[in-house]
Amino acid sequence: MSIAILDPDKSIVDILTDLIGDMGESPCPFTNKDKFLGSIDPKSHNIAVISDDYTDVIEGTKQVYPNIEIVAIGFGDATACLNIGATHYLKKPFMANDIRQIISALLTSPKKQDHPDKGTFITADQSMKRILEIIHKVAPTQAPVFIQGESGTGKEIIARYIHKHSKRNAGPYVGINLAAIPDTLLESELFGFEKGAFTGAYATRLGKFELAGGGTILLDEITEVSLGLQAKLLRVLQEKQIDRVGSSSPISVDFRVIATTNRAIEDEIRDGRFRNDLYFRLNVIPIKVPPLRARKNDIIPLAMHFITKIALREQIGEKILTQGAKDTLTEYSWPGNVRELENAVERAMILTDGDQLSAENIMLGMDMNTAPEKTASVGTTIHEMERGLILSTLDHVDGNRTKAATLLGISIRTLRNKLNEYTEKGQFSDALSVKTSNGLPYNAS
Ligand SMILES: Nc1ncnc2c1ncn2[C@@H]1O[C@H](COP(=O)(O)OP(=O)(O)OP(=O)(O)O)[C@@H](O)[C@H]1O
Ligand SMILES: [Mg+2]
Repeated sequence: MSIAILDPDKSIVDILTDLIGDMGESPCPFTNKDKFLGSIDPKSHNIAVISDDYTDVIEGTKQVYPNIEIVAIGFGDATACLNIGATHYLKKPFMANDIRQIISALLTSPKKQDHPDKGTFITADQSMKRILEIIHKVAPTQAPVFIQGESGTGKEIIARYIHKHSKRNAGPYVGINLAAIPDTLLESELFGFEKGAFTGAYATRLGKFELAGGGTILLDEITEVSLGLQAKLLRVLQEKQIDRVGSSSPISVDFRVIATTNRAIEDEIRDGRFRNDLYFRLNVIPIKVPPLRARKNDIIPLAMHFITKIALREQIGEKILTQGAKDTLTEYSWPGNVRELENAVERAMILTDGDQLSAENIMLGMDMNTAPEKTASVGTTIHEMERGLILSTLDHVDGNRTKAATLLGISIRTLRNKLNEYTEKGQFSDALSVKTSNGLPYNAS
């Protein structure tokens, strides 16, 4: 694949040609737009770097060849270029390294999917690229994939990516977050139910396995299900048959399974919380996603990707990261991984005026590692303290139970049991009947 370059200024074209050549890619330089338009071809080009002197070319290329990724460069209006289809905008004079990082991220990214958030997989780090190679090998097969990694490392985005690159990609992709749904409801969510199976079952409903027929099912946070349900899941995976709740005749379903966890599965098995045999069924292809702090080369390309994404979403101009900001981002440990980085970039993009983000604009440590403080006064019982801490932690993470459990250092199941206990005892009243700070009810995704 070669990378097309179009700029009226020959010296810029020469610089880009050298840069791209040094990266081991083949540059295809043009200073004339008609020649460029006559030669551009998605079979040989998947990336084009185009000056914003030629916004008509950017727009036209994107319309005719939507799969060509366009990096716009110029002195002008970033938003306009992004709106007509450029993936990135770099202000002139640009830094050689910025161009390199954008191109290397685009080269390793999969093609854009229908949903901009859900498909673009950015990586420039060797460790992730190796994982991506494995993913490319296994995606077209039927093998179950088991994705392990800390919260926010990108497990879900990888699961989607596998589906998109599988032979089942014309079929559905159905995800279910097993930590989010109370045990009592999980069975009917997963397997569906027959009309009249229980009070309120007015009509037959398909479960997630049936909905995933011909496609892929993501069992997200698999380690959170009870041992009883694990036994049922094992049977479904072995026999590829499900029993709708209230039905006595099993139904065959054709699905591919991907499971994720952010726990150390070995500990779960050792302590008897997760069935070994279910693990062996799921763990045919294990994928361990490294935390962001262990793949620092991903930090800046990801940050730039989020800048573009947020600029587009908010219809504001892209902002440039100063060297200081880049150093700050690179040095930080990112306990909340890519999600925390995305939040930090979003915060900086929204709160900062002007067209650059400097170190002072990056506010860190506001996601995972700052548990809300609780002061205890004499007379407070341990139970009250615990309840207060649990509820304010939930509030702090906008009701995300997974994050709350991680912060509190307890399992999501324990968290769920405690919340059930408060509900039963009516202890959600008064100040603690918290909706979350953003006014939304708890969501456990
Ligand atoms: N390589 C990547 N490229 C682009 N975006 C990414 C990448 N990795 C993660 N993200 C983004 O970061 C956020 C968190 O990713 P994701 O939801 O896949 O993490 P997760 O590992 O499933 O987290 P959790 O364990 O909390 O469910 C998402 O918004 C996702 O789009
Ligand atoms: Mg997830």
